[in-house]
Amino acid sequence: MFFELNEEQLAVQAAAREFAQKELKPGVIERDAKGLYPKEEVRKMAELGFMGMMASPEYGGGGMDTLSYVLAMEEISKVDSSCSVIMSVNNSLVCWGLETYGTEEQKAKYLPRLASGEWIGAFCLSEPEAGSDATSQRTTAVDMGDHYLLNGTKNWITNGGTSKLHLVIAQTHPEAGHRGINAFIVETDWDGVAIGAKEDKLGIRASDTHTIMYTDVKVPKENRIGDDGFGFKFAMKTLNGGRIGIAAQALGIAGGAYELALEYSKQREAFGKPISKHQAIAFKLADMATEIEAAKLMVYRSAWLKDQGMDYDTASAMAKLYASEVAMRHTVEAVQIHGGYGYVKEYHVERLMRDAKITQIYEGTSEIQRIVISRAILQGQLYLPVFGGALEQKV
Ligand code: CAA
Repeated sequence: MFFELNEEQLAVQAAAREFAQKELKPGVIERDAKGLYPKEEVRKMAELGFMGMMASPEYGGGGMDTLSYVLAMEEISKVDSSCSVIMSVNNSLVCWGLETYGTEEQKAKYLPRLASGEWIGAFCLSEPEAGSDATSQRTTAVDMGDHYLLNGTKNWITNGGTSKLHLVIAQTHPEAGHRGINAFIVETDWDGVAIGAKEDKLGIRASDTHTIMYTDVKVPKENRIGDDGFGFKFAMKTLNGGRIGIAAQALGIAGGAYELALEYSKQREAFGKPISKHQAIAFKLADMATEIEAAKLMVYRSAWLKDQGMDYDTASAMAKLYASEVAMRHTVEAVQIHGGYGYVKEYHVERLMRDAKITQIYEGTSEIQRIVISRAILQGQLYLPVFGGALEQKV
């Protein structure tokens, strides 16, 4: 098990930190307040290679490991989670899903544009009546011989307003349940694709979340991903990795709030000394640092397992569950440490608190992660390889 980052990982971490502090921080309050999409910032992220970090160089990606991607996500999320969710969906859902399960033709046609950030992608699974219960897809794709006819509505789609490509999950054989679901590559300028109004959200307000309507969209047969009926598995397997990205986002939000709270507590004086010297605040800092460290180990470990080609499904669910709960708990504490200043926008922590909430909801709510984890426990699949044989659990 690693406890040290290599040169490349350290360089990625430093570059992401510098970019976040220099390029994202100055406008983040205004973008959040006005819900302004970070167009220029996303362009710069693409220029720096952050939009296709793990994609293979042969498709124009960075060819980096998952841990490097996690480090970049963490640093960017310390400052601007609207930018990091745009990056996360493009990297770990769209590029990874396409590269892992797409055909050579699909990859050659679409991946270079996505990995370079020329195109942004979206992952269209959730529906008005199918969020956590993802097998209950109402969107249909009817086999018409040479193409599928796609009809339905998708909700809360990150990158919904700006994406040029959607990975759409739809029901093709309703009688077959989850085995009758397929995934399709849909270009957004095709006839019948309509984008609803941007959602006005509590947090990650600058990211563009939209409802998408598909009406009689003709999807060529060659745009189906995988064998007939693979779509639900495709979504689940892709989300297993996506959850590492969101866990890293939550870790970054918690870390950002902690750094701000620590700095503030050393400068702010009350009752004749910095508030960091009051035990009430010092103990909060101790709890924050400890839990963030624990979350970090879980998030990095899930990335490491993925990079080793080992099973990471339960590890990523655990990492997302824990890191998102830590982010929520400790952004609230960071506001509390800041007192009245924490309640106003200028000090950043109220935004981090609002942003933290979504990490407990998207890419599988905390309740869904508990379902995934508890099923693995009860099926005897919980595998903790890094601790070796003695503590390996086979229930
Ligand atoms: N990894 C791989 N395979 C999985 C899986 C996983 N995590 N979870 C389920 N599967 C497989 C099962 O093994 C099963 O396959 P078999 O029949 O071959 O054995 C099949 O999928 C069906 O699984 P279940 O019987 O367990 O299905 P279920 O309906 O009981 O529960 C669920 C499935 C785990 C609850 C699933 O519906 C789920 O994960 N829901 C949450 C969906 C989600 O995360 N949505 C996020 C939206 S995307 C988003 O937020 C993107 C964004 O824009 C930011």
